[in-house]
Amino acid sequence: MRLPIFAAGLVGCLLAKRLEWNPLLLMGLALAQAFYDLDVRYRVVKTGDSIALGQGRELRFVEVPNVHWPDTMVTYETSTRTLMPCDVFGSFGEIGNAPYDDQLSEEQLQFFEREAVRYYANIVARFSSSVTRGLEKLTDLPVDIVAPGHGVVWRKNPARIVELYRRLASYNKGPAQPRVTVLWGSMYGYTEQAVRPVVEGLEEIGVDVCVQQVPQTHISDILASVWQSTGVVLAMPTYEFKMFPPMATAIDELGRKLVTGKLALRLGSYGWSGGAQRELDELLALHKMNWTLLEPIEFKGAMDSEEEELIRQRGRELGLQVKEQSLEGLARAM
Ligand SMILES: Cc1cc2nc3c(=O)[nH]c(=O)nc-3n(C[C@H](O)[C@H](O)[C@H](O)COP(=O)(O)O)c2cc1C
Repeated sequence: MRLPIFAAGLVGCLLAKRLEWNPLLLMGLALAQAFYDLDVRYRVVKTGDSIALGQGRELRFVEVPNVHWPDTMVTYETSTRTLMPCDVFGSFGEIGNAPYDDQLSEEQLQFFEREAVRYYANIVARFSSSVTRGLEKLTDLPVDIVAPGHGVVWRKNPARIVELYRRLASYNKGPAQPRVTVLWGSMYGYTEQAVRPVVEGLEEIGVDVCVQQVPQTHISDILASVWQSTGVVLAMPTYEFKMFPPMATAIDELGRKLVTGKLALRLGSYGWSGGAQRELDELLALHKMNWTLLEPIEFKGAMDSEEEELIRQRGRELGLQVKEQSLEGLARAM
């Protein structure tokens, strides 16, 4: 059975089972009943409530709504200073039988950090302002162990995942790392030829570049990369007076996740009419994405050498703006 996540409820369920303890603690009661049709006694808890478990153990509760479900709350056990934060601080990735950070190599920890970025971008990014508000509520809690609903339990270095989430939440206005995601899709390879010069231009400026092809790259990886990027290149041909459909799908998904405020450059080949730009403008407006677009470069059929140089130059321009607008760049300017 696939379980939606009601962290406090699950904690309550586990306790109830282990301690044969009734009533069952359940926040998000309406949701839980909608999913499970529960026939149990329950007690609803809210921020500030606590439950003494005996032997010096006590659970406290803090609501952090909309991270990511409306009923999200965290549970804090005072004697072990353990935070059970539901979706907050979660990551993807299979845990196996080594669930604690001190059981993992640095390489494995970095894998889970990358998976936490992918998790953040796909699950909670849209609720980043709620994440920031939630993190503020938790700042006064002394925490030794972070045991999220998904992923690694952080008991050696809980600050590592907390800091990562803080950083990811700060990317929600657009400026992020000095990095550009180059998204490209091409039917015959004409637009593909424009990827190399734009990447060269970006690399000359010294920004990080991540190249991802649509539809081949999984959308969850696209979301993770773009979330961390200050700039995006969208390289796609015109298709039935619109964008190459896999690119439209990717941008639509970015819009649904509220990936806003990016610097972007569009490139692409067309045959006779063009039309991709119009659909791009419509999609950006529909999702209120507030992206700043550099002047696009469209070429008929194959790009010529002048267009190639222009694309390289536009890559440099984007790279420079990304360096200035990234959070590092903004911090340097202050
Ligand atoms: C199914 C299909 C639909 C197309 N629709 C248009 C169109 O509406 N307007 C246009 O200017 N070109 C259109 N083209 C032509 C392509 O944009 C053109 O061949 C371009 O060079 C393809 O670039 P690519 O090699 O990067 O895919 C279409 C091509 C195909 C295969």
